[in-house]
Amino acid sequence: RKDLTNIKDLELWEIEEIMALAKVFKESIVNKLGKLPCQRGKTIVNLFLEPSTRTRNAFEMSAYRLGADVLSVNSSASSITKGETLKDTAKNLEAITADMIIIRHSAAGAAKYLAERLRIPVINAGDGAHAHPTQALLDSFTLREKFGDDLRGKKVTILGDILFSRVARSNIYCLKKQGVDVVLSGPSTLVPREFEKMGVKVCHDLKDAVKDADAVMLLRIQHERQSANYFPSISEYANVFGLNRLREGFLKKDAIIMHPGPINRGVEVDTYLADSPRSVILSQVTNGVAVRMAAIHLCLCAASKIK
Ligand code: CP
Repeated sequence: RKDLTNIKDLELWEIEEIMALAKVFKESIVNKLGKLPCQRGKTIVNLFLEPSTRTRNAFEMSAYRLGADVLSVNSSASSITKGETLKDTAKNLEAITADMIIIRHSAAGAAKYLAERLRIPVINAGDGAHAHPTQALLDSFTLREKFGDDLRGKKVTILGDILFSRVARSNIYCLKKQGVDVVLSGPSTLVPREFEKMGVKVCHDLKDAVKDADAVMLLRIQHERQSANYFPSISEYANVFGLNRLREGFLKKDAIIMHPGPINRGVEVDTYLADSPRSVILSQVTNGVAVRMAAIHLCLCAASKIK
C-alpha cells in the first residue's frame, strides 16, 4: 500500500515486513553506514501542524539516511494561517514535486483524508487522539529486541491517559495483531471500560495491572486534548498512578519500562525509573529512525509500482 495511515488496516504480514526491513536499517545505523542510496532523488515533505520533537526529527533523519531530501512545513510559517485548506496545501506541495507527505495534525482522520486525495504516499505522524502508527511500530520493534520476534503470550500494560492517546490506540491494534496480551490501566476517567471491546483487559488497580507485565508502557496526561475541568489533576495522578521507586516493587524483576515521550518527570514516572536500567525509552527513540526508514521506503516503493 502507498500510505500508512493507521495500524488497524495493516495485515500481520505487513507488520512483519516493516519489522524485517527495520532490522536491516538498524544494522546500517549501528554499523555507521551513513546515507543509503535507496530513495536518492526523492523529496519528502514533513507537514507538522502540531508540535513534535521525536517524530518530526526521526522522520527527517530517516529520510536523510535513505538518501532523500526533506522539506519541513509547519502551520505558523505556512499559508494555512491565511485560510488555505489542508487539501489545497497538500495539493500544492504535490505540485512542487514532493514525492511523499508525512503529516501530523490535531484532527482525527486528517492523514487518511489526504491519502485519499493525493497521488503521492502519505504517512500519518499522529492525528488527534486517533492513530500514531509509526510510534506503535517502533514500540513493537523495541519489544522484539528485548523479547524476540515472537511476542505471542507476552503481556504489555499501558498505563496512563488512554482515552486521549493515539499511541495507546495504535499500540492496542499492533500488539493484539502480534498475539500480545494487553492490559490498560489508569484512572477510570481516562481508562473507560469501553476499551474492552478492543479485546484488551481494563484494570484500574495499578498493582494488579502491572504485576505480571513484561513491559509497562507509560503515557503522559494529555491536557491539551481535554476540557479545562479535567480529572485527575497532575498531582492526583502522580499520587496514585505515578511509577516511582516504591511502586517499582509491583513490577516483575525483569519488566521493562517504555514511554513514547515527552516524559513528564515526577508525574507518570520519576527520574530514578526513567533513567534506570529497566528503561528502554531512548532505545525507542533510536528505533524510531530504523522503523520510519522502513515505512518510508516501503510506501515509496509501493507508490512507484502503482504509477
Ligand atoms: N512520541 C511522540 O510522538 O513524540 P513527539 O510528540 O515529540 O513527536
